[in-house]
Amino acid sequence: MDEKAKVAKKTVQDIEVEGKVVFVRVDFNVPLDMRTGAITDDSRIRAALPTIRYLVDHRAKVILCSHLGRPDGKVVEELRMGPVAQRLSQLTDLPVSIVSDSIGNQVQEAADDLKNGRILFLENIRFHAEEEANDPSFAQALAKLADIYVDDAFGTTHRAHASTVGVAQYLPAVAGLLMEKELTSLTGILTNPEHPFGALLGGAKVSDKISLIHSISDKIDVLLIGGGMAATFLKAQGYEVGFSLIEADKEDLAHQLLEVAGHNGASLLLPVDVVVSDSISEQAAGEVVQITGIPPNKYIADIGPQTVELFSQEIKKCRTIFWNGPMGVYEIPPFTRGTRALVELLANVKATTVVGGGSTAEIVEEMNLTHKMTHVSTGGAASLKFLEGQTLPGVAALLDR
Ligand code: 3PG
Repeated sequence: MDEKAKVAKKTVQDIEVEGKVVFVRVDFNVPLDMRTGAITDDSRIRAALPTIRYLVDHRAKVILCSHLGRPDGKVVEELRMGPVAQRLSQLTDLPVSIVSDSIGNQVQEAADDLKNGRILFLENIRFHAEEEANDPSFAQALAKLADIYVDDAFGTTHRAHASTVGVAQYLPAVAGLLMEKELTSLTGILTNPEHPFGALLGGAKVSDKISLIHSISDKIDVLLIGGGMAATFLKAQGYEVGFSLIEADKEDLAHQLLEVAGHNGASLLLPVDVVVSDSISEQAAGEVVQITGIPPNKYIADIGPQTVELFSQEIKKCRTIFWNGPMGVYEIPPFTRGTRALVELLANVKATTVVGGGSTAEIVEEMNLTHKMTHVSTGGAASLKFLEGQTLPGVAALLDR
C-alpha cells in the first residue's frame, strides 16, 4: 500500500508503553452459534493480535475492553466475554484474566495488580447503559483504570460511545495496529488507487449503498452490481423483475446513479442473466434466465453464469477492486454460486483487493480465502461509512500524528 496513504493518527508505536496500563478497545463482537454459544468466526480476535502482542512484548499492562452483541445496558448471560477471553488465550498462548464487570472496585484492584506484559479482560462493556449513552462519568471511570488509551476497534468507530470516544478525552489516545491497517488500506483505495479501479457491490438494498456509490463514482472505472440491489436497477431500466424486492422509491435514484456513473466515465454493469426461483428456500430449484425473460411470478436469487463471466472479465482488468455484498441470497445453498465464483476470482487476481467487513468478510472467511485478499475489513458499517467519506467519531477522537 502506498506510503502516502499512511494514517494521520498517532499509533501505539508512537508512544512509550512499557510499564504503563494501556486500555485497549477491541471489537470482539464475534458471531456466536445461538444454540451452543460457540464462536463461529474468530477473525476479529485474530485481527487484533498484532496490537496485543506488541503491547505484551513491550511490557505494557494490557486491559482489553469490547462489546458483544446488543445487551441494551443489561447483563445478558449468553453475552458474557468469558468464551472470547478464552479464545484469545488459546490464540496468544498467554494467560488472560477476566473480571466480572468493566468498572468498580474489583476492576480497579485487578488493574492495579496487573504486572507488565499481562492481560486483563473486562466484562461486556454494553452491560452498562452508560456505554452507548457516552456518559462522561462512566468514560472517566474507565479512563481512571489506565494511563493510555488504544483504539483497535475499527468495526465500532462509527459509534460515539464511552469506550470508543468518551474515554479518549481523558487519556492520550492512539490507534492500534489493526486500526492503522484498516485506515491505511481504506484511505489507500480512496486517495490513490491503482487504475483500473473496480467496485463490485451486492447485498439486499440499494439504499444501503447509495452514499457509497455517490462517493466513489468519480474514483472508479467500473461498477459491477449484483445481489438483491440489482433488481431495483434492472427495474429502473424497464425490466420485469418478478417478485424480487424492489425499493420503489429508489428506482429514480438508481436511474440517476446510472447517469452519475456515466458522467464520471465509469462503466456500470448490471447482470445480463440471473438465477430465478419460485421461493427463497433450501428446497427451491433455481433456473437461469436472461434479464429480458424474468418470469413475473419468480424471485431473482443469484447472478447467472454469463454475468459471472462478464464480471470476471472486468475484474481481471482491474488493478484495484473493492467488494461489498453478496451477489445472491448467499445464506441459502442453491444460490451461493455467483458469489463464490467471484470471491474465488478475487482471491486469485494480481490486484489490490479490499473487502468490506460484516457478512461480506464472513463469506471470505468461510471460504478460507481471507489470507488471499490484500485487506478484509473487520468493520461492516464502519468500512462503508469511511468510504462514503463520513467522519468516524472513534477515529476523530484519536491524536493526530
Ligand atoms: C459490528 O459488528 O458491526 C460492530 O461490532 C458494531 O456493532 P453494533 O452495530 O452493535 O454497534
